[in-house]
Amino acid sequence: MNFLKLAEKRYSCKKYSDRAIEEDKLQAVLEAGRLAPTAKNLQEQHVYVLQSEGALSKFDQLTPCRYGAGTALMVTYNRNNVYTYPGEKRDSGAEDAAIVATHMILEATEQGLDSCWVNFFDPDQAKEIYGLPEEEEVLMFMDLGYAAKEAGPLPNHRSRKDLSETVSYL
Ligand SMILES: Cc1cc2nc3c(=O)[nH]c(=O)nc-3n(C[C@H](O)[C@H](O)[C@H](O)COP(=O)(O)O)c2cc1C
Repeated sequence: MNFLKLAEKRYSCKKYSDRAIEEDKLQAVLEAGRLAPTAKNLQEQHVYVLQSEGALSKFDQLTPCRYGAGTALMVTYNRNNVYTYPGEKRDSGAEDAAIVATHMILEATEQGLDSCWVNFFDPDQAKEIYGLPEEEEVLMFMDLGYAAKEAGPLPNHRSRKDLSETVSYL
């Protein structure tokens, strides 16, 4: 699909049907994440596929935002393997993982899947509940599935600021 059409089509789905996602579509989503660029090509991300009852019920303990999705991804990064930028104030961890997640969420749309980016959870609690090592930071979860019949974009989906408000030419 033309990229701008794809970007326009994606929306945050907040109600899923019980139709399972196909394995080849999941693999395409994961491959899109694998192809994402990372600072210094460090590839400090890790993607967990949550599909078992146990993994999904832990997700439900963390957040009300699964919305019935039968699959969720958890994107983490290893904070001991990040690139620290000049000035020493910021590093690549969160943004590299966010680029990976963005690639995956857009490929989900390309595959005809619906999705939602989820950050409404306590990252320390997520680390604990999934038994992750101390150096692994949880960036986000992603609901993946097929929208329920009555689902659709929320009214604010089309409300984007005009470019004149968010872009300046220096
Ligand atoms: C970084 C980020 C975090 C988000 N966290 C949540 C969340 O925890 N729960 C939720 O229902 N939606 C979440 N969303 C979805 C946003 O609310 C949604 O993207 C925004 O309202 C615009 O709607 P749209 O995605 O349909 O265009 C998140 C989106 C982003 C980009």
